[in-house]
Amino acid sequence: MLANHSKDKSIVDKVFTVVAKAKEAKEKFGQENVIDATIGVLCNEDAQFVNFKTVSEVYKNLPDNEIAAYASSFSGDPKYLECVKEVVLGKNYGEEFKDSFIDAVATPGGSGAVSNTIWNYVDKGEKILIPDWMWESYKIMSEEFGVKYELYSLFDENGAFNTADFEQKAEKIIEEQGKVLAIINDPCHNPTGYSLSMDEWKELRDFFIKTALKGDIILLNDIAYIDYDFRGEKGAREYMEYFKGLPENVLVIFAFSISKAFTEYGLRVGAQLALSSSKKVTDDFKRANEFSCRSRWSNISRGGMRLFSDIVSNPELFDKLKKERNEYVGLMKERADIFIKEAKEEGIPMCTYRGGFFITVPLGDDTEKIGLELQKENIFTVILEKGLRIAICSVPKRQLHGLPAKIKMVIDRVK
Ligand SMILES: Cc1ncc(COP(=O)(O)O)c(C=O)c1O
Repeated sequence: MLANHSKDKSIVDKVFTVVAKAKEAKEKFGQENVIDATIGVLCNEDAQFVNFKTVSEVYKNLPDNEIAAYASSFSGDPKYLECVKEVVLGKNYGEEFKDSFIDAVATPGGSGAVSNTIWNYVDKGEKILIPDWMWESYKIMSEEFGVKYELYSLFDENGAFNTADFEQKAEKIIEEQGKVLAIINDPCHNPTGYSLSMDEWKELRDFFIKTALKGDIILLNDIAYIDYDFRGEKGAREYMEYFKGLPENVLVIFAFSISKAFTEYGLRVGAQLALSSSKKVTDDFKRANEFSCRSRWSNISRGGMRLFSDIVSNPELFDKLKKERNEYVGLMKERADIFIKEAKEEGIPMCTYRGGFFITVPLGDDTEKIGLELQKENIFTVILEKGLRIAICSVPKRQLHGLPAKIKMVIDRVK
């Protein structure tokens, strides 16, 4: 009965499957006896889900109609969109980016932003460029739209961003189809925790300028984890400087989300934020994506948008939230330091980690075997194609101590 394009669709979500297994083990053996490194949400040192108090208090105090009513427009409440621009590009963005055109469209989370962008910037049968280590949804969304994907190696042999591979593949796609939509998930990449350096972004800027002579470039930068960067708010956004004054046929779209930033995963609030040197490009962006919103989900949560703009436009509240969040960023740094130090001592491999929710142990073809063996020891990680994802966002420090040694033991047993 299904349409031809839906006949073979079935989702095996690697994350949700193993999350369920870990939950079962915790019920059977007790929380303390199970290391659950699967959950991609912030948890405290009692391994309990964290919802920032500042955020939940504001939400609970919203008037009923501000939660229950429809949003004021398909593309999002104007005040919300204004706050998104301020949060992503800086409060002073009007002055800072005075020669750029900027527009935004509200979407259900970063997922809606990525999906709208793939849908509106490539045709069926065309290719997008995504990293080989990636958030799996990029692939799923491409498949949903009949779009193909090419993988670039995220890392070079030194564990730095593989600029050469990115550029070579992007250029090839432009030569084939006259344009490229490339996804970079920066900073605090999922699943590795990599963040590009300023030099790496500068190199990409030079590449975009040079390569725009051959065709259109759409850079989709997924910034879902930007507020967990150890470099702080300013440091995490410094590279945006390089998006000023790009050629008119280069469009930068940020996939913005409050899921992690406000610990409001279920509210489904996010946005596409477009930046270009051409007004026509941002006008086209708004027109097409607004149409998609209407056709796909109509509008997003009014209360979620109001929550965000009420906090962002109130300096006292916003500072309070940042303070609360930064305590967890600090905690994550402590967790990362423990894991990285012990991983080095044990000599287990690690993808270059610079910040964020996840650390990845690359294990090549042995990954699945090792991941399943670890489960027998009551250690649950997300088993990716070529590595194990350890969600340090949710594992207490006391459980991270000794985890690399346990992983090493299993690696030695399997190899
Ligand atoms: C890399 C990345 N991008 C985007 C998202 C989107 O999340 P949401 O749709 O909840 O905003 C996630 C969520 O896990 C993610 O890991």
